[in-house]
Amino acid sequence: ESIEKGGYEHFMLKEIFEQPRSVHDSMRGRVNSATGQLLLGGLREYLTKMIHARRIIIIGCGTSWHAGLVAEYIFEEFARVPVEVEYASEFRYRNPVINEGDVVIAISQSGETADTLAAIELAKSKGAIIFGVCNVVGSSIPRATHAGAYTHAGPEIGVASTKAFSAQVVVLTMMGIILAKAKGTISETDYRKLLVELETIPEKIEKILSNHKQIEYISDLFKDARNFLFLGRGYNFPVALEGALKLKEISYIHAEGYPAAEMKHGPIALIDEEMPVVFIATKDSSYEKIVSNIQEVRARKGRVIAVVTENDKLISQMAEFIIEIPHTHEALMPLLSVIPLQLLSYYIAVMRGCNVDQPRNLAKSVTVE
Ligand code: G6P
Repeated sequence: ESIEKGGYEHFMLKEIFEQPRSVHDSMRGRVNSATGQLLLGGLREYLTKMIHARRIIIIGCGTSWHAGLVAEYIFEEFARVPVEVEYASEFRYRNPVINEGDVVIAISQSGETADTLAAIELAKSKGAIIFGVCNVVGSSIPRATHAGAYTHAGPEIGVASTKAFSAQVVVLTMMGIILAKAKGTISETDYRKLLVELETIPEKIEKILSNHKQIEYISDLFKDARNFLFLGRGYNFPVALEGALKLKEISYIHAEGYPAAEMKHGPIALIDEEMPVVFIATKDSSYEKIVSNIQEVRARKGRVIAVVTENDKLISQMAEFIIEIPHTHEALMPLLSVIPLQLLSYYIAVMRGCNVDQPRNLAKSVTVE
């Protein structure tokens, strides 16, 4: 087993550090910014159906559902198609309205999640086209779908999903851009910029990972916290959810992810000098709004850890700790901003003596409902 861990203490850490490579693998042969080429083989046959889809329904569970939320922002912004993101378990028992020609995208690392599989069968029986985004080749979900794209992240052993998430986001991002291009809803400038930026993501992840010592240091200071809040807006909102989920899963610290603007409708009541609040506050279109959310937390003595864009001078004066990450296109930011949160939960869990690769009560793939 120690050989399989490749010198890392845990599979999860190995998989976090593999992301420059796995993200690259997800794009290999699919993106070429020099030629302007972007293709997903599995999508070709169904692209026309997708173009004409009146809406897209994305289904998944756990971390895969979070990847679906990121995709919702991308598909709506660039491809201008209405998107709903559903927990597979809720969707299948809700008697959902599915019209012929609706497109369902099912996301699953394992390709074996029972609820997702059952939701696919239901949607298929009502005439929807099902597209799968899975990691495990030949698993049940890819076999049940009409078409799909593999994420090519390689085997993920740690129960808490890390590299599978970034690979899902990459593939869904590519799908969104392909669809937008085919529909003519994306400008040539945005198209080119996104392709160029996609290709830089692996080296930017590498840069974030090289800062792991700082994240380990911060983890040590907060390892005994009983609660954590994760706040983000826009593209970083699903990242806040994912950051909270990671921490809960492996460290057993209660954590909630929230859209930062919703804080005033509830979570703000929890803030006192013992509440760590992780803001994902990169320079994007909601930057000023999130800066005022940080001020609101500071005013109530909350302890702010902020994930910011490199050289952010403003937030560094307000937050107790900042974790800098490189700049990228706003729509691609989740691929970078999730990395420090994965490391934070990993280090905290290790420091608390938890079994990070096999947390209690959790399974890598849930094949029962
Ligand atoms: C389990 C795993 C999670 C995963 C979820 C969905 O709960 O512990 O890490 O996100 O299932 O799994 P899937 O294989 O469908 O992505």
